Amino acid sequence: MTTGGRQSGMRLPGGDGSASMATETTTLSADLARTAVQTAVLAPSIHNSQPWHWRLHDGVLDLSADLTRAVPVADPDHRQLVMSCGAALFHTWLSLRAAGLTAQIDELPDGPDITRGRLATLRVIDTSAPAPGDAALAAAIGHRHTDRRPFDPADMPGELIRGLRAAAEEEGCWLDPLTRTDARVELSVILAHADWIETHDPAYQAELLRWSRTDPDATDGVPRSVVVGSETQRQSEFSLRDFDVVGQAGQHLRDPRVEHPGVLVLGTDADGPADWLRAGRALARVLAVATSAGLAASPLGQAIDLEATRALVREATGGLGTAQMILRVGYPDPAAEPLPPTRRRPIDEVLDLVSDPASA
Ligand SMILES: Cc1cc2nc3c(=O)[nH]c(=O)nc-3n(C[C@H](O)[C@H](O)[C@H](O)COP(=O)(O)O)c2cc1C
Repeated sequence: MTTGGRQSGMRLPGGDGSASMATETTTLSADLARTAVQTAVLAPSIHNSQPWHWRLHDGVLDLSADLTRAVPVADPDHRQLVMSCGAALFHTWLSLRAAGLTAQIDELPDGPDITRGRLATLRVIDTSAPAPGDAALAAAIGHRHTDRRPFDPADMPGELIRGLRAAAEEEGCWLDPLTRTDARVELSVILAHADWIETHDPAYQAELLRWSRTDPDATDGVPRSVVVGSETQRQSEFSLRDFDVVGQAGQHLRDPRVEHPGVLVLGTDADGPADWLRAGRALARVLAVATSAGLAASPLGQAIDLEATRALVREATGGLGTAQMILRVGYPDPAAEPLPPTRRRPIDEVLDLVSDPASA
C-alpha cells in the first residue's frame, strides 16, 4: 500500500520518497469518494460495529473514528476499533488503486489521540493502471465474509501461507503461522482462558448482547444467522479426557474429518494507535489475499481483548512485539452454502460530502 504519513513511518511510493515531492494532486470527486467508501465499509469490524466516519472536502477524504460505536468492555483502549478503521482504510486505498488512482495516505495527521484527531487523510497523487495483483485483490473484497463454520480438513500449502505472511509484511506487520503442536495447544488453552473470563463478566455479556442481532434488516451488529452452533459448542467449561483412541486394527474411532485450521497471529513491533491502524491494513490485505486464494477465515479475537491473554499469545509465538489479531484460516467445506453477507449501514450515515464553496 502506498502511503505517506508522518506518524507511522510508512513507506512512500516506490520506497524512494517520490510521493512527498508530488505537487500535482488529482482531486477526488464525490462519485469516486462514494465508490471508495462503499468498498471501505465492506471491511470487517469488531462486532460489526462499523466505527468509522468519512468526510470529503477539497478533494481530500478524511477518516475519523466514530467513538459512539465503540465497544468499551471488549475493547477498552480502542485497539480493535482503530484496527477495524485500518482495514477500511486499506479497502479505500485498494478501491482507488483498482480505479487507476494512487492515493497518498497521511495517518494520524492530528497526532496520536484518536479521540480528538483524524485517523487518516487520503488524497489522490497519481494516476496509472492498477497492477493485476491489486485488481484481483480489489475483486476479492466483495466475496470476503467472516466464516465461523467448520473448514475442510485439507491443509493449506506452505506457499499460500508464505503469501499471507508477505501480505502482512507489506503493511509493516508480522504474521506468525502457528504450526508447532505445542504452540497450537497453548493457543487453544489461551483462547479457552479468555472465553472463560469473558463468559463470567456480566458487563461483557451485556455488551455482546447489545451487538447481537436477530432482526434480518439490522444494518450493524452480528446476526445470529452467521454465528455457528454457540448453543452446542461448549458442553463443559473443562475438556473431558478424550477416549476416542485409534482402534486395534488402526481404524479411527473418531471421525478424522475434523478441521485443522491454519492459525495465524498478526502482530506489530510497537503498540500504539499507528500500529493498530497498520495492523488493520495488514488484516484487510491478508484477508483479501486469502479470499482470492479460495480460503475462508474468522478472527479469534477474544484472546486479544484482554491484556493478560494478549501477552500470553505473544509468548506462544515466542518473540517480541504485540499480538494484534489471531485468525483461523482454511478451505471452506465444499458442501457448505455460500455465506450471506453481513449487512452494513447506508453510505450516507458514514460519509459527509462537504461541498466546495468555489463550485457553488
Ligand atoms: C478487530 C476485529 C475483531 C474481531 N473479533 C472477532 C471475534 O473475536 N470473533 C469473530 O467471530 N469475529 C470477529 N470479528 C469479525 C467481525 O465480527 C465481522 O467482521 C463483522 O461481523 C462483519 O462481518 P463480515 O466480516 O462477514 O463482513 C472481528 C473483526 C475485527 C475487525
